Amino acid sequence: MTQTPLLTLDEEDRKLAGRLLAAFLDDYERSLPDLPRIVPDIDRNVLTALLQEPFPDKGIGVERLFGDISDKILPNSTAVAHPRFLAYVQGPPNGIAPYAEAIAAALNQNCNFWQLSPAASVVERSVVRWLAGLFGYDDTAGGILTSGGSIATLNALTTALNDRRPGFRRSGLQDARSALVVYTSEEAHRCVEKAAVILGLGLDNVRRIPADGDYRMRVDALGETIRADRAAGLEPFCVVATAGTVTSGSIDPLDAIADVCRDERLWFHIDGAYGALFVLSDRKRAEFTACARADSIALDPHKLLFAPLEAGCLIVRDREKLRATYAFASSYLTVNDDPLMPDYMNYGPQLSRGFKALKVWSALRTFGVEAFRNAIDHTLTLAQYLAERIQAEPNLRLMAPVPLTAVCFQIKNATDADHTAILTTLANEGTALLGPASLGGRTGIRACVTNYRTTHADIDLIVNRLR
Ligand SMILES: Cc1ncc(COP(=O)(O)O)c(C=O)c1O
Repeated sequence: MTQTPLLTLDEEDRKLAGRLLAAFLDDYERSLPDLPRIVPDIDRNVLTALLQEPFPDKGIGVERLFGDISDKILPNSTAVAHPRFLAYVQGPPNGIAPYAEAIAAALNQNCNFWQLSPAASVVERSVVRWLAGLFGYDDTAGGILTSGGSIATLNALTTALNDRRPGFRRSGLQDARSALVVYTSEEAHRCVEKAAVILGLGLDNVRRIPADGDYRMRVDALGETIRADRAAGLEPFCVVATAGTVTSGSIDPLDAIADVCRDERLWFHIDGAYGALFVLSDRKRAEFTACARADSIALDPHKLLFAPLEAGCLIVRDREKLRATYAFASSYLTVNDDPLMPDYMNYGPQLSRGFKALKVWSALRTFGVEAFRNAIDHTLTLAQYLAERIQAEPNLRLMAPVPLTAVCFQIKNATDADHTAILTTLANEGTALLGPASLGGRTGIRACVTNYRTTHADIDLIVNRLR
């Protein structure tokens, strides 16, 4: 009889694990619409025991493991896929995702160089090429899947530094030249500032350009600030525009910012983590035309392609600029270049990398691109419906236009504390998980429809309760 190798499951346990997994996924899917709560009623005793219980010397086996997951993990997990989870920019995972993730784990391809991941390298290339094509980039473009939009923007700023500051790879920012400055709007996501901190640019060298009444970067103020910085002996090198700001979904004037970047010879990066994939919608495509003029775009398949965490993406118009930033020759990794299969270790900071592309590729193939267009259109429709319902309610007030799917509103005469209390009540009673909004010094409530399961009835339920 052949012995089962250590750390594998024997045939009987494999069958059991398969059955239990299938049952778990099926039960979870069925439970979603009727879950009493979105944020769980956390059992602190169970979580404390999870923390303190020592790992067993002799394993508990497959059946008890699944029992623990069902009894301890599941009831203490947030129901992100619930149709009234409308907080933050996070959607439910698509249906094929858990299966694709399981296969990626089994194959365990290391997507660093092609020898360890030949098919995976091509799958990632095809996903990135499709994404780049959505924005009108041609075959000189390239990119890489990342853990999310924040890291995509960090990698973009690193590439921008390497491209705009001669000798950056050798001397970094350690020589005595003038300070480099990056420009973004006051509505930009904190990931721009985080990147500036990590890269040693310093927060004092991030200019948060004022926004207009619709929360879009003011291009006149951008131009003036760049000129003032140059006059002061500083070195502007990059503008980060946002296509879909995190709070209100506003889209900066991309074309006008592209003109400024061209005239001032600055790297033009677009943070499209939330908004860029609305390019898939016929209703919104025209608003993203100027993306083709950007040097780089960050976007998030784990938002609008409903990939499970984590799946972000950086696209760079000239992929050689990524290689110029990140490629190193290492004696311990030498493989011959192959024109078909990119070596992704040359496109970003990671060496060992998982097969994130499989879940994105699998979903696009299983459901087809049209299904994603429809899902995205559905979120747009529901956000407009929510905005209309809010406008029709005498006690509610929209705080900003709704160009995408983030709806910010206030309850008339409510204080900050009232808004916070309402958010807590809605979450505790299981009506909805919404988030806080802060715009132009005013605070309120934000519902971001990034959820293909949400229905008109869900929106009605929320508005009726708010009323
Ligand atoms: C505009 C914007 N940029 C960046 C991010 C960060 O993306 P990630 O959470 O994937 O790092 C977000 C997240 O919501 C966002 O909305």
